[in-house]
Amino acid sequence: MRIILDTANLEDIRYFNTYYPIEGVTTNPTILSREGGDVLKLLRDIRDIIGEDKELHVQVTETEYENIIVEAKAIVAYLGNKKNTFVKIPATDTGLRATKALSDEGYGITVTAVLTAAQALLASNAGAAYVAPYVSRLENICEDGVGTVADIAEIFSVSGTDTQILAASFKTVKEVLDVAVCGCHAATVGSDVMKKLLAHTTTDTSIEGFASDWKKSFGETTLLKLLKK
Ligand code: E4P
Repeated sequence: MRIILDTANLEDIRYFNTYYPIEGVTTNPTILSREGGDVLKLLRDIRDIIGEDKELHVQVTETEYENIIVEAKAIVAYLGNKKNTFVKIPATDTGLRATKALSDEGYGITVTAVLTAAQALLASNAGAAYVAPYVSRLENICEDGVGTVADIAEIFSVSGTDTQILAASFKTVKEVLDVAVCGCHAATVGSDVMKKLLAHTTTDTSIEGFASDWKKSFGETTLLKLLKK
């Protein structure tokens, strides 16, 4: 399962893009509003940091059909990378119509705010490149977010659709791992959960033990220093 970063914070994007094997960045209006300022420059900066080969998902803010179409095309034209710029469109009737029209013209559409497998099925049939089910938002209302992703994975597998699942809205590491087990194609994860995917105190103490044992026997040298002699 591919991992994408769910933030518009440039410092975090620089950090995770350098150290973690992320495959892109997702944003939404809330995520962009947290950063404020010149939103177009922000999107351009994100693209510059991640480069042309990684995915950038940007959500429409227009709600009328004609305006969504124009806005989606303008977003892609502005960022200048049709292959790796995905336009996020919410799972509504107007959203499905726009998804069909834009997908037919070769735009990559991520149908977002997906809360049910039925919505995902319709989005797939409309030609979406991705559907983004909101795992934690479901779990937090005592619904089965992970189970919903599993159902979508099963439906997509049976139908043989090209639409991929980009699970979103994670609050815990366990949710991320649970959707990975379901055969989810990608997950977009915020900075906090991303760090927790890697961090483990026993890893830290193990590394300290290796360093201390090495130092006791070999002092300040390293394998590199020995090999260079
Ligand atoms: C993707 O960008 C989604 O919009 C995002 O993961 C939603 O996350 P939230 O439920 O934490 O707002």
